Amino acid sequence: MIGIEEIKDKIDLPEDIKSSAVKFSEGKYLHHLIKENNFKKTLETGFGLGLSAASIITATNTKHVGIDPFQANYQNCGLKNIEKLGLTNNLEFYAEPSHEALPKLLNQKRSFDFIFIDGDHKFDGQFVDFYYASLLIETNGYIVLHDTWMESTSFLVNYIKKNRKDFNYIPQSLRNIAVFKKIGTDERDWLHFKRFGGTIKSYLTQKAIKKIHDNENSFLNKSILKAKEILK
Ligand SMILES: C[S@@+](CC[C@H](N)C(=O)[O-])C[C@H]1O[C@@H](n2cnc3c(N)ncnc32)[C@H](O)[C@@H]1O
Repeated sequence: MIGIEEIKDKIDLPEDIKSSAVKFSEGKYLHHLIKENNFKKTLETGFGLGLSAASIITATNTKHVGIDPFQANYQNCGLKNIEKLGLTNNLEFYAEPSHEALPKLLNQKRSFDFIFIDGDHKFDGQFVDFYYASLLIETNGYIVLHDTWMESTSFLVNYIKKNRKDFNYIPQSLRNIAVFKKIGTDERDWLHFKRFGGTIKSYLTQKAIKKIHDNENSFLNKSILKAKEILK
């Protein structure tokens, strides 16, 4: 099977959408996290370009569940990558939104020891993914959230930290992910609720990125793109 180091040279990331994939450094991080913990039953929401999936499969060499309803919109780029890397036999793919696929897996009494959440990044989409992931994850398994720079993700991180004592936050050296370990059963009573908020850092980052995103043709935006070109 292909090794983690070879993925970078073999995977195709079209210029216009490549920023949506996890970074190679993040893929490697996930790969090693899985190997260190000997996780084998893995799932991700937001299969995208297949980079996170390839990083996960090369760590387990077993079947990985990938969920993404929008592959067709990207010429099946992720599925083609997995095929090109020779990993198709280790992929169980659902071309459905996660809010449809996850309850089906739960109904089939499936369980997982590693779940990566990288699909719909709006707060409600991520919250629903986490909610189902919390029911599908085994004790001692990990749920990993991507894009913690986003305000929506930062709210979810703080919801889990404050309200879900059945999960332990595991600090990591990588900035853009949050890792939670399932450590027990959910024993909250019906009146339980602890207030939570996002971080100031995510509020300011989100505001800045949104401004750049909304003004694609601004001088600032063009200068950033020019600088990126020069630094390549
Ligand atoms: C940031 S990209 C994921 C990148 C991917 N992890 C990789 O490394 O290539 C987010 C993906 O989530 C998918 N997505 C959006 N809404 C979704 C949903 N409701 N359920 C599952 N996936 C969703 C998008 O189609 C997109 O491919």
